[in-house]
Amino acid sequence: MAKPSFSCSACGASFTKWSGRCEGCGDWNTISQDAGLSAGPAKKSLGAKRGRAVTLTDLASEEAPPPRAMSGIGELDRVLGGGLVPASAILVGGDPGIGKSTLLLQAVAAFARKGLKTLYVSGEEASAQVRMRARRLGLADAPVQLAAETNLRDILTTLEAEKPGLVIIDSIQTMWADNVDSAPGSVSQVRASAHELTTFAKRTGISVIMVGHVTKDGQIAGPRVVEHMVDTVLYFEGERGHQFRILRSVKNRFGAADEIGVFEMTGAGLAEVTNPSALFLSERGAPSPGSVVFAGIEGTRPVLVELQALVAPSPHSQPRRTVVGWDGGRLAMILAVLEARCGIPFAGLDVYLNVAGGLKISEPAADLAVAAALLSAREDRALPGDTVIFGEISLSGALRPASQTENRLKEAQKLGFTSAIAPAGGKTGTLEGLTMTRPTDLVGFVGEFFGAG
Ligand code: TYD
Ligand code: MG
Repeated sequence: MAKPSFSCSACGASFTKWSGRCEGCGDWNTISQDAGLSAGPAKKSLGAKRGRAVTLTDLASEEAPPPRAMSGIGELDRVLGGGLVPASAILVGGDPGIGKSTLLLQAVAAFARKGLKTLYVSGEEASAQVRMRARRLGLADAPVQLAAETNLRDILTTLEAEKPGLVIIDSIQTMWADNVDSAPGSVSQVRASAHELTTFAKRTGISVIMVGHVTKDGQIAGPRVVEHMVDTVLYFEGERGHQFRILRSVKNRFGAADEIGVFEMTGAGLAEVTNPSALFLSERGAPSPGSVVFAGIEGTRPVLVELQALVAPSPHSQPRRTVVGWDGGRLAMILAVLEARCGIPFAGLDVYLNVAGGLKISEPAADLAVAAALLSAREDRALPGDTVIFGEISLSGALRPASQTENRLKEAQKLGFTSAIAPAGGKTGTLEGLTMTRPTDLVGFVGEFFGAG
């Protein structure tokens, strides 16, 4: 008899026995027995069939890599690492309703118009509904094939027959593999479906893009294990009330991770935003306390974004620390360094930090900009409006130069900023029209901008 197997519904880790707490992710009560998966095909002895090994140099001379397919949607092609790689498996995750189906329908239509044979499989909407959406997006005439199907066996059969270059599976949570007896959306189903589709992509040369809904705490529902299976993981993010949407690559075997593409949700679908800095700064008014412009790098591209801080006396015994778009732990660290190294306490004060435009920043280079925003809010003093800030703060209070200093400064110059605050060090290039302030530690920075008053 096959041994039962167990897996965690939060992280997808597999175990041979049940326990109350997952050793993989530390969550409680997430482990359950896998249904069906254990009933695999009869085992053959390993090593019966020999694999073939080739040397790397042989491979290189054998053939040039197949060309990537371009959609013509620049923001998408760049995030994919410079177009779609044949036989790749891609996962696109995002909150329900954020616009994944819209994005992928537009993408598939764009690829189809460039001559790639494409198939859009919807497990959530009927073909008529997809067609209606396509009409609304002005894509009704694109040569895309549609299918409303959830049975994986039928889908794979269709794909074998149709042999498209690209297939969209919307969504992986609706897929149902009939050799696994648990409900669609369950961990075993999602994992089995993703595995089938990924191996199918490799075997047949068809590129597969799978849509995955994300749970409240920001993970692709069910197994994170799907992320390990695929070549590329993209997240489609944005605030619901905002029109900006950001497509971010968090893993990419064929390009830079952390690359972003920026889109705007309009009445006629998603529109590309080719100059995101201008967009992120467009809502900025006159210089005001707590507002600072951070010159960041997202993937391979510099992006300027406004950070907003609010510091107010707290009515609570435990003051609030609220962050949107940045890491809460990192904020605590900056507050601790300001207190310990500069003697500026934040005890008894509520602190709110917001990255404007719905962008999420993960770079340590934002440290100095955050510190500046916090101090500016606390002292109720605005920094000059035409200034960009960046740099990393260490626990000692020393400042470290950020990577790609030159690119950040160039972007600031391009957008009409006239001064920049960045730690000493790092290559700057020519800085016409840009006044540089180069502090070496946090104390020096505070003294220069917030001292004597
Ligand atoms: P959708 O692509 O269905 O989201 P997902 O597949 O991620 O669940 O997008 C749904 C939202 O997008 C919906 O609230 C309406 C909005 N929308 C527009 O604003 N303009 C459009 O042209 C379309 C098609 C959708
Ligand atoms: Mg959808």
